[in-house]
Amino acid sequence: MILTKEQQDMLDGRSGRVKQLAMDLLVRYGEAVGAERMIKVDNCGIGTLPVLSAEQCKARGIEPGDYEQYYLRGMFGWDQEGLSLDHFGASQVTNLCANTVSNIRHLGAGEEAVRFMQIVDDFIGSRGCVNSNTCAPFLNGVIPAFGEHCAWSESSAITYLNGVLGARTNNEGGASSACAAITGYTPYFGLHTDEARWGTHLIHIQKQPKDPFEWGALGYYAASVVNRGVPVFLGVHNIPSNDDLRYLATSLATSGEVDMFHVVGVTPEAHTLEQAMGKNQVAGEFTFGEKEFQAVMERLNFSKQKKVDIVIFGCPHCSIQQIKEIAEYVSGKQYRTRLTVLCSPSTKNIADRSGYTKKIEEAGGFVGEGACPLLNASMTPEERVIATNSEKFAHYVTGMPGYSDKEVHLGSMEQCLNAALCGEWA
Ligand code: F3S
Repeated sequence: MILTKEQQDMLDGRSGRVKQLAMDLLVRYGEAVGAERMIKVDNCGIGTLPVLSAEQCKARGIEPGDYEQYYLRGMFGWDQEGLSLDHFGASQVTNLCANTVSNIRHLGAGEEAVRFMQIVDDFIGSRGCVNSNTCAPFLNGVIPAFGEHCAWSESSAITYLNGVLGARTNNEGGASSACAAITGYTPYFGLHTDEARWGTHLIHIQKQPKDPFEWGALGYYAASVVNRGVPVFLGVHNIPSNDDLRYLATSLATSGEVDMFHVVGVTPEAHTLEQAMGKNQVAGEFTFGEKEFQAVMERLNFSKQKKVDIVIFGCPHCSIQQIKEIAEYVSGKQYRTRLTVLCSPSTKNIADRSGYTKKIEEAGGFVGEGACPLLNASMTPEERVIATNSEKFAHYVTGMPGYSDKEVHLGSMEQCLNAALCGEWA
């Protein structure tokens, strides 16, 4: 790889040992994918590691509460005396990991876990990373610009950044996004280049999706047929909402490995079909109609039971608009089935101040900040049948530790809320 003087200095250790290790990882990564140079990235989305108990720390040979040591070892495998991460090098770094002090308190964690979670927040914050604690920080002001080169992890966010915002990021892992954050650079290849962003397959929309859940079904279908391609959606009658596009992006990253897409006439690199396709030939054409929609439902709406134990919204994290809709729908009603609404801490703050949290809680529901329903224990073992509007949640839930016996009803927000009211799926 051709490195600039600054990058070579990092690699030679003149900017400190941690930057040297990070640049070394990026150079090896870049060489493995055939990149010839690095590109500056000021905007990185990174993750953190799960909270450990004192026993788990001891078992790993880590001082209890020493998150820095745990992070450098656990995230990168760097296991050397005296290593220290002073500050991230990129100017905008965001913590996409959804767990928070508030969430673990809600789940009944002890004081030790709460203290550890606080140490994680303090460490990340003091190194220059914004604790957004959400997979959708672009709902709360972390908005990469059109054309901006970034290094983000979290698949649903990556597809949204590329397809909806027109920012440029590859699908980074935990270590590569964090090394980009440490150095401010990432290998220049893949979706940083124009060619990789051009469309490969056409998806004709015959059945017009009418809400985020149906846009999610469209994305789920499209990714299952194009797999690693760049789908170009044609024939949209109405301009989708931001939530529609978020669900489309999330599902595209669920049933296949789609990191980029175009909706002709809607997304920023697809004013026309010609612009979306660039110099590519069409590799395949598909149509999304009622039959394809039903096939997605057959795959993901898989509970055989009528009853519903819990309703979960928030995968990806709910927008304030969705929370407003839920609050208005449930206002004045009394829900017997547990109703959980998850969002970022910032969105929760707005929901609190707008009176939406109160309305949902008065109806028997719960608005949680900064929890991922798949990773941060949203269901008890007794809550087996879940209703949700999220294709991503339905796709992954039974593969998560402790959740293999879960069953899912998948449908619109309204269907889920009706199920929460009567305890049955209609
Ligand atoms: Fe977000 Fe967790 Fe779903 S990170 S997209 S809420 S799996």
